This record gives sequence, C-alpha cells and structure tokens, in this order.
Amino acid sequence: MKAMTFVLFGATGDLAKRKIFPALFNLYVDQKLPASYAIVGVGRRTYTVAEFLRSVEQSVSDAAQRREVDSSCIHAFLSTIRYVSVDVTQKDDYLALLGQVIQCEQEWNLPQNRLFYLSVAPEFFDVIAGHIKASGLCETTGWKRLIIEKPFGRDLQSAEALNEKLCASFAEEEIYRIDHYLGKPMVRNLEAIEFANPIFQAIWNNKYIANVQITANETVGVEDRAGYYDHAGALRDMVQNHMLQLLMMIAMHLPNRINAKEIRKEKRKVMEAVRPMETEDVMRSVVRGQYGAGNLQGHSVVSYRDEPGVEADSMTDTFVALRVWIDDPLWSGVPFYIRTGKRIKEKSTKIIIEFKNPLEGSYRNQQTAPNLLILNINPEEGISLQVNQKNAAERGKLEPVTVDFSTDASQAPEAYELLLSDAIQGDSTYFAHWMEVKLAWKWVTPILEAFAQNQVPLHVYPAGSYGPQESAELLMEQGFSWWQDE
Ligand code: BG6
Repeated sequence: MKAMTFVLFGATGDLAKRKIFPALFNLYVDQKLPASYAIVGVGRRTYTVAEFLRSVEQSVSDAAQRREVDSSCIHAFLSTIRYVSVDVTQKDDYLALLGQVIQCEQEWNLPQNRLFYLSVAPEFFDVIAGHIKASGLCETTGWKRLIIEKPFGRDLQSAEALNEKLCASFAEEEIYRIDHYLGKPMVRNLEAIEFANPIFQAIWNNKYIANVQITANETVGVEDRAGYYDHAGALRDMVQNHMLQLLMMIAMHLPNRINAKEIRKEKRKVMEAVRPMETEDVMRSVVRGQYGAGNLQGHSVVSYRDEPGVEADSMTDTFVALRVWIDDPLWSGVPFYIRTGKRIKEKSTKIIIEFKNPLEGSYRNQQTAPNLLILNINPEEGISLQVNQKNAAERGKLEPVTVDFSTDASQAPEAYELLLSDAIQGDSTYFAHWMEVKLAWKWVTPILEAFAQNQVPLHVYPAGSYGPQESAELLMEQGFSWWQDE
C-alpha cells in the first residue's frame, strides 16, 4: 500500500464524526492503512489542531472501547492528523491547505499521493474540485484521487453538468463515487455467490429463475432531513442509486475476468439492457406511495405530511415499487421487482430469487413450494436456500425447509472501512462508474417526470405496513407475491 495524504473536507461534519474517523481508526488498528500516511482535516471552523484532535478523539472513542485498545493507540492515531480551516469558496484558503499538505509530506517523507474526500454538501463538489486544481494541489508527482458521495445531481442534466466540472480536475479513473450499498459486505458477496459457485452460475438465467425481488425497507421516517428529502423522494434517494446498483450486481453476467474494469463493464451492460419506460409503462409498472400515520413497533407515528419541515400538501414519494425488465438473452421474460420505502413494518434489505417450479402438483400430487434463494443484506447478513423435503412425522408430507447460513454482522467491517480501504489501494470495483450513474439517471427520468406531473397516483400507506396494497398487486399480475411479507 502506497504512503499517502488523506485530505478530508467536511472534517468537522456529522459524517466525518459518525463514520469516516471511526472507519479510519479501525483501519489503523487493523494495520490496513499504509505504513506512513497523514490525515489533513479541512473544515470551516477555526479550530486549533488540539481542539480538532479532541473532537476526533471523541468520535473514535466508541470504536476504541469496542476494540479494547489503550490510549497510546489512540494517541498514535491522532499524531498523524492535522487541521486546516478553509472556506471552500475562497481560492486563497487553498494555498494554506497546499502548504499544510506539503508540510506533512516533508515531515513524514511521504510521496505526493493525495486522496481528497469531499464530505460536504453536494453543491460544493464542483467548487472544491475546481479550487483543488487551481491551487496546485493536483500537481503531484504521485497519484491523486477524489472521493465523493451521492447525490450526484438531481436529474440527468445536473448530474452531467457536475460530472463535466469534476472531470476538468480529475480523470474518471481518479473519481471514486461512493454508493454506500457497495460497501455492504453482502452486496460485495453477491459477485462471489454468482461467480464462485458453479451450481448457481448454471441456473442464473431465465430458464430457471421465475422472478427476482429486491427490497430495501426501512422503519425510519424522514427523520430531520425534510429539507433535502421533500425535494428528493424515494426514487432519487434510493432507487436511482442503491436499488439500481443492487439490480446491476445481481443481474450482471460472468465477466471475462473478475476485476474492477470487467465487473463495471458488465454492470453497465445490465443498465443498458434495462427496458426504458414510456409514460404508459410507468403508469402500469410503478407504484408510488407516501406514509400516513400509523403504528410502528408499538409506537404511534405521524404521517409524512405532518413531519417537521414537510409541505402540508407534499406529493413526495416515500415508497416506490417497480417492475423492471432486462432485455438480454439471460433475463428475457424474468421480472425484477424493486421496492423501497420508509416507515415500513421492519427494516430489511434483501434480494430473493424465486426459481421456477415445474413440479407444481406433479410430485405425488402434492403442492411444492418454489425454491428460493434469499440473500439477506441488512440487518441480518447471510444466505438461505428454501428447498422441499418430506416431513417424516406427517407421513411424508412435503414441506419447505430453509438451509441457513448467517454471518455475524456485528463482526463484519463497516461499509466505510471497506470503501476507504479500497480507495486508498486504488481499487474502484465497488464505486459507481460515471456510466452507471448516467444510465441510471437516464432510466429514471421518465418516472421522475411522470411523478412530477402527477401521472402516477400517490397511494397513502399506513406507517408500520408493507407499503400500499398496489405494490402487492404489481406482482400478482404475473402470479407472484412478495416473499416474507406476512
Ligand atoms: C441513504 C438515504 O443513502 O440510505 C437514506 O439517503 C436511507 O434516506 C439510507 O435511509 C439507507 O441506508 P441503509 O444502509 O440503512 O439501508
């Protein structure tokens, strides 16, 4: 691993405190950071280095306790961290940052490998990238990389404009777009399940698979993010990025070689083959919902429109279910159902693959349940396979049983640890390529437009349910139902 300087914009922000510093600390404890490196925190506030380090110490204290490390370890971690106060809109402030970065490189004898992480509001992405270049921070004798996190624009046009600006300072191979779903261990595992198991590879197609159900249900509501969410909605917030990433991961074909370039190429091919929707398709194949008041895990919760900061007549989608077709020889005729919602009965992110059931009724005249492959992503992590067997106690009656393999999710590294470690090593496999982002925006555009023009009804569902009944009806049209909903 190459020595480097990690420059964190937004170093005093919430994400830095909750995720980025704890992830860096865990990587440090696990000796997964380069042997020599420096971290330069960049924030608007005028902190002294000592004040800043105190706040970093607080943010890693839980991780330190869990890892049972002593204070000398924390101090060693803090000793490589510096802080610079920068108003990101002021070009002169970047000269102080450049000075600090060069000073770190000299102090620790680091090559000029620079990783810039923009943990800031998206409207600053292009501004900061531009100033990084103009200040000379990009002129390195080593490598440079840029990490940014969604949202990448709010529609195709704004995403293209943003990308163009970023590309003026960084090349595509240098831009690491975080989609935190690609940091989830089970999402990374999808590729191994498909490609490292000949038994699954052999049946990963429309001859054996009846349908695929991709779910990301959440119990939380809009929380304190109405300012953002009421203008975004579930389609922008979850479908355009996380859900389509899951779709690409589950539907991609076996690449020629398992590496970043080939995997991303296969993912892109999936997005290119997803059948575009006309307005009539949107009306037939997309369900839009918004949570009403209800009871969730024993507590009454208010409706979306009654949440603080939400417009009283808001038409924002907090739930979306879609039926998607992939027009390629492997998947033709297999519906992929996607759904995501807030204030759903339970938190559950999973993919269920339902296999065709040609034996239906033909085994000793008994009904057989279809085989299911269930890939649990969150909060449980693991794989289970539903198969049929005889129940000896019931005179050989057939019944489905589940072969379960769960991993202890609490022991798995956090998404941010995996993502940061990849970016530090220059492995872009689990970052969203621009073409994936672009194709995803392009694909959701007609749906966004139909929502904006109210061409799709907005169904209110009670908080604590599984979303509007119309979502179940979407599957019933092909004779299916969402598995594991009561
Ligand atoms: C974020 C969305 O990207 O993902 C949030 O902005 C959502 O609205 C979150 O709650 C869900 O992530 P996870 O990891 O809890 O499934």
